[in-house]
Amino acid sequence: MIIFDNVSKTYPNGVKGLSHINLTINDGEFVSIIGLSGAGKSTLLRSVNRLNDVTEGEITIDGVSLTKAGKKELRRIRRRIGMISQQFNLVKRSTVQKNVLSGRLGYYSTWKSILGLFSKEDYERTKDALERVDLQDKLHSRCDELSGGQQQRVSIARTLVQQADIILADEPVASLDPVTTQKIMKDLQNINTTLGKTVIVNIHSVELARSFSTRIIALKAGEIVFDGAPEELTDERLIAIYGRKI
Ligand SMILES: Nc1ncnc2c1ncn2[C@@H]1O[C@H](COP(=O)(O)OP(=O)(O)O)[C@@H](O)[C@H]1O
Ligand SMILES: [Mg+2]
Repeated sequence: MIIFDNVSKTYPNGVKGLSHINLTINDGEFVSIIGLSGAGKSTLLRSVNRLNDVTEGEITIDGVSLTKAGKKELRRIRRRIGMISQQFNLVKRSTVQKNVLSGRLGYYSTWKSILGLFSKEDYERTKDALERVDLQDKLHSRCDELSGGQQQRVSIARTLVQQADIILADEPVASLDPVTTQKIMKDLQNINTTLGKTVIVNIHSVELARSFSTRIIALKAGEIVFDGAPEELTDERLIAIYGRKI
């Protein structure tokens, strides 16, 4: 369970990224975060693994304060949180296998990581994860030989071997075509329903948010302006969020 308790984030230049956010996300939810560009979606998502520090309030994950966590505690918390981004964040010249295995790095000491000493189980996990996203035949391919959609599935597989139970996805389909978009969203949904992982996705498309999530949160100028089930997101509310009909 992730709890935001009166969380605000003001950037050093004075811009307010988030303003007094109170939010509880339960295990196993599929949450879509919508809102105009600049509304604070990335700031919110990045706060969950402390890629950015908040300036007020507290975030706890299963009762452990993320805000107050020391280095060791933070490393432990981050292990449980997988991140998927629009740019995939893969080592493109490396193989699919190596990229997926890198999801294990949080479990090893620095010297083992440097030497790339992964266990037999890690190699098994890698194969299983690639099967789950339908990429078993790409194990030894270089990532730069893959399409955008395949690369995004590699980054999903990486969060699986990481055994993250929270998956954060910042506009994971923003650069993909409609067919590939459906595939990626279905992969995320499958991970959510069959493995019970909590998924939080920042997404531009209201239609996708509606069809894949169990809960939609809309941000506007760093504040929550809607939080509810997809069917509660009426045209009227959309106008309030976007300032026009969508
Ligand atoms: N590193 C930063 N420094 C200063 N302002 C930032 C920074 N990152 C984001 N912002 C500002 O914070 C607000 C929220 O940004 P962001 O969370 O990226 O929104 P979204 O993901 O919804 O487009 C915007 O006004 C943006 O310009
Ligand atoms: Mg963003």
